[in-house]
Amino acid sequence: MSIDPSEYRRVLGHFPTGVTVVTGADENGPAGMAIGSFASVSLDPPLVMFCPGSESASWLRIKETGAFCVNVLGADQKDTCGVFAGKADDKFEGIDWTTDVTGAPVIPGSIAVIDCEIHSILDGGDHDIVVGLVKSMSTSDDAAERGPLLFFQGGYGRYEAI
Ligand SMILES: Cc1cc2nc3c(=O)[nH]c(=O)nc-3n(C[C@H](O)[C@H](O)[C@H](O)COP(=O)(O)O)c2cc1C
Repeated sequence: MSIDPSEYRRVLGHFPTGVTVVTGADENGPAGMAIGSFASVSLDPPLVMFCPGSESASWLRIKETGAFCVNVLGADQKDTCGVFAGKADDKFEGIDWTTDVTGAPVIPGSIAVIDCEIHSILDGGDHDIVVGLVKSMSTSDDAAERGPLLFFQGGYGRYEAI
């Protein structure tokens, strides 16, 4: 059975994800892209993963730095997601970013920040499967109050406890 690409997108869109911006900084400045395919992998050693398109301009720059930072967006950061899902030349315009230990950009207002060295890159078809070794991590004090930005069926939402 062949899988139709639009049906693949529709069905997989039924799996809800959080939204992150994965960043890196090289000599030309900061790079970043919206990423939903983020997950924890291992506790010991502490590993996480995400899957960028293997030809993504942002990922090709981040890869060369050997590190990345995962910025978990809050429910009030939908506009930030929109910018980092786009193709603007300077996605960081107007963003007062800082760094943690690897030098990859930390985006203000993120509800969690996970700063990593690249551990390994595996073949994932038209995407790469990137495994990162966590070097530093933190959360914002207002994370529970603001809640995470969620993505489901191609649209955004917020978390509600049941
Ligand atoms: C909610 C959301 C989640 C996304 N998740 C991914 C992902 O996991 N992997 C990916 O390659 N692209 C993902 N994208 C699309 C990329 O953000 C987009 O293709 C990227 O910013 C392109 O930038 P570039 O041209 O600078 O590489 C996602 C977009 C949105 C809106």
